[in-house]
Amino acid sequence: MLALRDVTKTFGARVAVDHVSLTVARGTTRILLGSSGSGKSTILRLILGLLRPDHGEISVDGGMGYVVQEGALYPHLTARQNATLPARAQKWSTARMAERLDVLAKLVALDPDLLDLYPAELSGGQRQRVGLARALMLDPPVLLLDEPLGALDPISRAELQTHLVAIFRELGKTVLFVTHDVREAFLFGSTITLLDNGRVVQEGTFEDLARRPAERYVAEFLRAQVPPPDMTAYL
Ligand SMILES: Nc1ncnc2c1ncn2[C@@H]1O[C@H](COP(=O)(O)OP(=O)(O)O)[C@@H](O)[C@H]1O
Ligand SMILES: [Mg+2]
Repeated sequence: MLALRDVTKTFGARVAVDHVSLTVARGTTRILLGSSGSGKSTILRLILGLLRPDHGEISVDGGMGYVVQEGALYPHLTARQNATLPARAQKWSTARMAERLDVLAKLVALDPDLLDLYPAELSGGQRQRVGLARALMLDPPVLLLDEPLGALDPISRAELQTHLVAIFRELGKTVLFVTHDVREAFLFGSTITLLDNGRVVQEGTFEDLARRPAERYVAEFLRAQVPPPDMTAYL
């Protein structure tokens, strides 16, 4: 389980996270949705312990894997070296790391031939798969993903979106998935927490938010990303 209780974080006069309470039950995926600057990354950094809250409590049961936009791979290390980094820190044997990476490459659908290439030689989607393999290396019960697909082209993005939903379900991880993309939030089909200015505006399924918006902002946020009907008519 992952829980925030009445968490507040300010930077000077700026309230980045404003009395946020949030519980993600073990083995479930939660979508943290909000526009740029709404406090999503700050919440992840608080959970990771990279920042301390001014107020409130955070509890996480077990280790965490973390994936950010662009995969954040080291450019001078190969895909294999990047993915096995957490295992190397734990002094795993080469054989054990190779065996684990074999399993993970299959899971994230990464061609094993790509493992000896450097990040610059991989596509954005391939880099994200390496980043995901790295986050899963030590099999942490909790996964935190900060707009992991944000930098991808629409085709790789749609491919990975569907794949991730299947992976999370299969592994039974507790997942907090950050996005600003309403379509992505809808596709995951999980409970959504919508943030605005560091504050939780509404929590519920996509249907709850769309049908019973808690505030005018909810409807505005959802509608702002709907493609115009005269556009979808062509598709
Ligand atoms: N280290 C920091 N110092 C000062 N302000 C920050 C810092 N990190 C985030 N902020 C501010 O906190 C707010 C929330 O930022 P962030 O959590 O990055 O939003 P999001 O990830 O939703 O785009 C923004 O106004 C941002 O400028
Ligand atoms: Mg962010």
